[in-house]
Amino acid sequence: MARITAGVACSHVPAMGAAFDLGKQQEPYWQPVFDDFEWVRRWEREQKPDVVVLVYNDHASAFDMNVIPTFALGAAESFKPADEGWGPRPVPDVQGHPDLAWHLAQCCILDEFDLTIFNKMEVDHGLTVPLSMMFGKVAAWPCRVIPLAVNVVTYPPPTGNRCWLLGEALRRAIESYPEDLNVQVWGTGGMSHQLQGPRAGLINAPWDNAFLDDLVANPERLRRIPHIEYLREAGSEGIELVMWLIMRGALGPRVEALHRFYHVPVSNTALGHMVLKPLA
Ligand SMILES: [Fe+2]
Repeated sequence: MARITAGVACSHVPAMGAAFDLGKQQEPYWQPVFDDFEWVRRWEREQKPDVVVLVYNDHASAFDMNVIPTFALGAAESFKPADEGWGPRPVPDVQGHPDLAWHLAQCCILDEFDLTIFNKMEVDHGLTVPLSMMFGKVAAWPCRVIPLAVNVVTYPPPTGNRCWLLGEALRRAIESYPEDLNVQVWGTGGMSHQLQGPRAGLINAPWDNAFLDDLVANPERLRRIPHIEYLREAGSEGIELVMWLIMRGALGPRVEALHRFYHVPVSNTALGHMVLKPLA
């Protein structure tokens, strides 16, 4: 049977993708960030996941005010990188896993999570930047990827608890797939940041680090964080952290942190990264 072997949390700051693509990894501003990701790249080469369910948000690249799905699952054979204004990123196309994706859709919808299913969509930095951070510069991504896009751009986004419960439903769905697949779930976005208005540039390191602590020690607290607290403490874009709770909910009640990294600033955001292993 398929099994979830790990969860990865990671910011998906677009500037990280640009620095990566332009070969700026060793510039003083970027070096601490890219040096840290060497750990996870080594680890991923050992882990060899077959499939990553990659939770991210689209940034008006594929969806806009015409269509606002709260949760949208990608079931296509492949997904091309989106042109976000400077041409598509020079990274491989993403290969999907339609059979598993349709299985996840069926299980989750019958489990009362009414996912949108998309069969054609370009994927933006929210999805491709984490792939570059975890796998580096490659001719082809080393695993299949099932995109799970969450609306955190247009109010109202889902609650953290709803995301957690979807993670639990995904776990039930993955563990009922009758093929021996090594599956990871990644939650991306965040941490504290605000991109506009008088508080633009807001970063709240104590709040972010308490979130990282409780992702392991007390996820029950994180499930109950209201939208207004994300807005007040983590800025208007800090709400992206609810996507980490889908990943965390999929791992079960107890986890071990294999790796943790926090760095400010990256562009005008706080970068957080964690690798978690589910415990029986
Ligand atoms: Fe985002």
